Amino acid sequence: MDLSTRYLGLELKHPIVASASPLTRDIDGIRKLLDADAAAIVMASVFAEDIVANRSVLDERLETLRLASKQSSVPIVASLNCARPGAWVDFATRLQDAGASAIELDLYRVPSDINETGLSVEQSYVSVLCAVKEKVEVPIAVKLSPYFSSPGNMAKKLVETGADGLVLFNRFYGGDIDLDKMVIEPEYQLSTPYDIRLPMMWISLLSGRLRASLAATSGVWTYKEAVKYLMVGADAVATTSSLLKEGPHNLGRIIDGLRAWMEGRGYDSLDAFKGRYAAAHLEFPDAFMRSHYSDILTSESKDQ
Ligand SMILES: Cc1cc2nc3c(=O)[nH]c(=O)nc-3n(C[C@H](O)[C@H](O)[C@H](O)COP(=O)(O)O)c2cc1C
Repeated sequence: MDLSTRYLGLELKHPIVASASPLTRDIDGIRKLLDADAAAIVMASVFAEDIVANRSVLDERLETLRLASKQSSVPIVASLNCARPGAWVDFATRLQDAGASAIELDLYRVPSDINETGLSVEQSYVSVLCAVKEKVEVPIAVKLSPYFSSPGNMAKKLVETGADGLVLFNRFYGGDIDLDKMVIEPEYQLSTPYDIRLPMMWISLLSGRLRASLAATSGVWTYKEAVKYLMVGADAVATTSSLLKEGPHNLGRIIDGLRAWMEGRGYDSLDAFKGRYAAAHLEFPDAFMRSHYSDILTSESKDQ
């Protein structure tokens, strides 16, 4: 059975990737994910702020990347978390030189100035991509949020600017207020399989319409979510929360589940079902999305 797929122009032995997290920050974590048979590993992001401040963590990250790329037969993708272009951009070259097979730009900022227009936010992201693209030759993926007035048009702009792939979507990690201590504390929640729905809809809408790879991130805990993402046209499917909770070996379980599901259906390659539910195959994608929305809102509650 052939589970191989192409992502960012790289050949992956199967579509299941470990996305950026504390597990991909050091060489021990990365080794565990390699042992669990990850098809590619996205390292934890290096933050633009750390690069500007020239923090010592950078040397450690570069060393980990060097070791990982030497020891691994699968692509190791470096990740940069950034919002605007700046002096930090040169660091992308160091990631490439340290052996990164590709670079993922994790674009994230909250436009807290209410005078800033959506167009200006979009332009700042496009400029980041342009600036990094000038520095490196390895493929670049952009991990973006769904919070644009027109996420599809933003995706198109990024691809036209040179993104080789898009990763849909990064999640919102905001602080919470601790009412006992009366302080704002950072807190994250692991995803659930329900979280596949928004990325799944957008991957369906974008698949086949952009000259770029699409990776899905959010909500993949079992082979089922992976299959659904592939069915709407994802080229690669990433998981983090499931690995943080269940351990790196969950990655192997997802791959085994995918293989067993394909066997049960008589599929011998991903092409047999990949993109079957891509909106490009639908005559009226807008109407399709909207009628589902109204069907859900007007249906009887399951609990009644
Ligand atoms: C603790 C934690 C740390 C993360 N660190 C990063 C990071 O450094 N860079 C990044 O792009 N995404 C980071 N993410 C986001 C994940 O890569 C992933 O996109 C997100 O968790 C959604 O996938 P999931 O539903 O499989 O968890 C992090 C997520 C968690 C939970």
